[in-house]
Amino acid sequence: MSEQERKRKVALVTGGSRGIGKAVVRKLAGDGCTVYVNYRSREDEARKICDEITGAGQRAQIISADVSDSKQVKAMVDQIIAQEQKIDVLINNAGIYSTASKGGAFLNFTKEEDWWEVVKVNLGGVMNCCKAVLPHMIQKKYGKIINMSSVSGIRGTAGNTSYSASKAAIIGFSKALAREVVRLNITVNCVAPGFIETDMTTQLPENVIKGMMPNIPIQRMGRIEEVAELVSMLAGDRVDYLVGQVMVVDGGITI
Ligand SMILES: NC(=O)c1ccc[n+]([C@@H]2O[C@H](COP(=O)([O-])OP(=O)(O)OC[C@H]3O[C@@H](n4cnc5c(N)ncnc54)[C@H](OP(=O)(O)O)[C@@H]3O)[C@@H](O)[C@H]2O)c1
Repeated sequence: MSEQERKRKVALVTGGSRGIGKAVVRKLAGDGCTVYVNYRSREDEARKICDEITGAGQRAQIISADVSDSKQVKAMVDQIIAQEQKIDVLINNAGIYSTASKGGAFLNFTKEEDWWEVVKVNLGGVMNCCKAVLPHMIQKKYGKIINMSSVSGIRGTAGNTSYSASKAAIIGFSKALAREVVRLNITVNCVAPGFIETDMTTQLPENVIKGMMPNIPIQRMGRIEEVAELVSMLAGDRVDYLVGQVMVVDGGITI
């Protein structure tokens, strides 16, 4: 292995097959990382983005795991370590939104499991991946962890109690973990996007999307590439003094 190969960063992007994760995969591959594109069900989408990247002479590989399942996450991380001997960058991006049936509006959900399922994927996924990856980062004395929160976790979104709770909890989790591991040369930060154009948001009813606009000072939805730029900055070594912070990219929703 050449010196350049040895220095190439290895990144794992959960939910890298679609939406924000896909743009992050593109950006990190362009930055020179070998990128593992995690997905749960849509292998076709994961393959498509990998083929695009390898076709451009960059490095990416698909890897499946349901992030809410700690056994699957451990198997995924073991496979990457067996192939690469390290994971330098972990982007905990996989997430699901609460729909009416999945514990959305607090007074509407009927089954407790539906409410907790969103928390299990969004918060449990971050926890499982950090737990599996951190020992390897500690061994190498290097790591960048970026956890995808949301403005819903900062100001709350009516009709989305479980989602808002999970995204707020990710912030608390990240701040606590940042304090624990920063002395080991591992930084943990959050990104909190606003209303970004992806499958997650475009499937919302037209009236909901229109109703959001007066709340967005910039008067448009965000682009996945705008979130990916921020993630790339946090995943790089340019601003190591950024520790345990929440970087909001929301067109002004929270100002
Ligand atoms: N879009 C927004 O406006 C917005 C705003 C704030 C925060 N966010 C956050 O940003 C992240 C990405 O959102 P997005 O809009 O890009 O979502 P998206 O377009 O719906 O894509 C979700 C991605 O997560 C994966 N995924 C879902 N559940 C998974 C699981 N249990 N295990 C592994 N992968 C799983 C999906 O893979 P499969 O297709 O294979 O299931 C897919 O790659 C989420 O955490 C979301 O909460 C989004």
